[in-house]
Amino acid sequence: MSSDPTLRAVKGMNDILPAAQEAFLNTAVWDHIEQTANRILGSYGYRRIWLPVVEPTALFTRGIGEGSDIVAKQMYSFEDAKGRKLTLRPEGTAGAARAYVEHRFADRNPIQRWWYFAPYWAERPQKGRYRQFYQIGAEFFGVSSAAADAELIIMLWRWCQALGLNDIAIRINSLGDENSRQHYLGILRQYLHDNSTSLCDDCRARIEHNPLRALDCKRPGCKNLAAAAPDILESLGDAPRQHFDEVRHILTEQSIPHTRDPRLVRGLDYYTSTVFEFTTEALGAQDAILGGGRYDRLVQDLGGAPTPSLGFAAGIERLALLLANRPQIMDNRQGAHLYIIPMEGTLTQALSLADDIRAAGPWCVEVDVEGGRLKHQMRRADRSGAKCAMVLGEQEIAEGRGLLKSLDSSLQEPLELSGDKIAQALSQLNIPPSFTHVARSL
Ligand code: HAM
Repeated sequence: MSSDPTLRAVKGMNDILPAAQEAFLNTAVWDHIEQTANRILGSYGYRRIWLPVVEPTALFTRGIGEGSDIVAKQMYSFEDAKGRKLTLRPEGTAGAARAYVEHRFADRNPIQRWWYFAPYWAERPQKGRYRQFYQIGAEFFGVSSAAADAELIIMLWRWCQALGLNDIAIRINSLGDENSRQHYLGILRQYLHDNSTSLCDDCRARIEHNPLRALDCKRPGCKNLAAAAPDILESLGDAPRQHFDEVRHILTEQSIPHTRDPRLVRGLDYYTSTVFEFTTEALGAQDAILGGGRYDRLVQDLGGAPTPSLGFAAGIERLALLLANRPQIMDNRQGAHLYIIPMEGTLTQALSLADDIRAAGPWCVEVDVEGGRLKHQMRRADRSGAKCAMVLGEQEIAEGRGLLKSLDSSLQEPLELSGDKIAQALSQLNIPPSFTHVARSL
């Protein structure tokens, strides 16, 4: 039976499901990414935040910039019944900065480290760019030192290592402060004007309002021109140059491999100073798994006190593509550790026993609450992907003993029906506790 085509998920929007047909949309992979972020980002002092998915349109036009591709072409904007202009958020930084200003953190405790795992929306889906996509990101408010930039990049490198991602390249650049940027923009505009016949139409239109974007256009003519463009580093004043040198120095001292990419400009207008991207060749054209940098003026531009800030966001679909099909991730969440099969009249005892086992250890226990014939229950246990099963009949209850059977092998073990004893037996069967349960037990 195939579903009604008019009722299918919207193009560019995915279902993330257990045992999804496409491995990168499998819950196991997404759980793994989230739990690793929770552990690593949490260990650097980042706290979780949840923000509205809809914000005033003006937040993005002012925060991200009218000239950016996101604001100009990709936002889902609409008016509510009272004519207020609203937008489905295309990224997380503007909303986080709004919340920082609105809740007056500058007066209370200006240094804030926040992280989020949330959906975002952008029009014009294409390969590797979704209409609804997810990001794990972080924002670090209130510190201007180069050490803050370096610490963020180090943390992201540790996160990649914890995820088991190899072959990641770190590209880093500086966009300078306001003065050096204005100076550079003048030089760049002149250069683009002088060579405008080699530019694509989009980049020709960008010369006035967003010339930096011409540096990372993928079209061949623009690429060649960008390769020979004046370098922004030459326009940096002493302070921004020192800041950038120091970031690089700390990264080198901490053995974090990175290269400077003079073409790295990022697509959002709020960036100042350090910007970075982590890329991998394994993803083809859309090779950035994460990107970020400093945005020292954004909080002020949104009506707050001057607050130096920085952050990053990673694309979860892209991370999931890199991690899909890894056995150590996929195996771990295929089913419960133990599937209890209650026979007629033993459901209550089965529910209590399952709770006793869950309380005694980090185990996932499923009870067959549908009941019915043993044969059908056994089939459901198998299909669920559970590692072990135990049948609970009147005789087992009367004797206070049951048989723990492995569903992957011929192992079986008679056991006292106690939560502690069964939890202990599960641990001796060498079954890794599921990620969720490990996280809960920490
Ligand atoms: P961004 O570069 O727009 O930065 O997005 C970060 C990452 O999100 C990208 O490297 C990519 O992996 C993923 N991504 C973005 N758009 C899509 C899409 N349409 N489909 C799939 N993946 C996508 C930001 O969003 C900034 N807010 C990051 C930041 C935080 N800078 C400072 N703080």
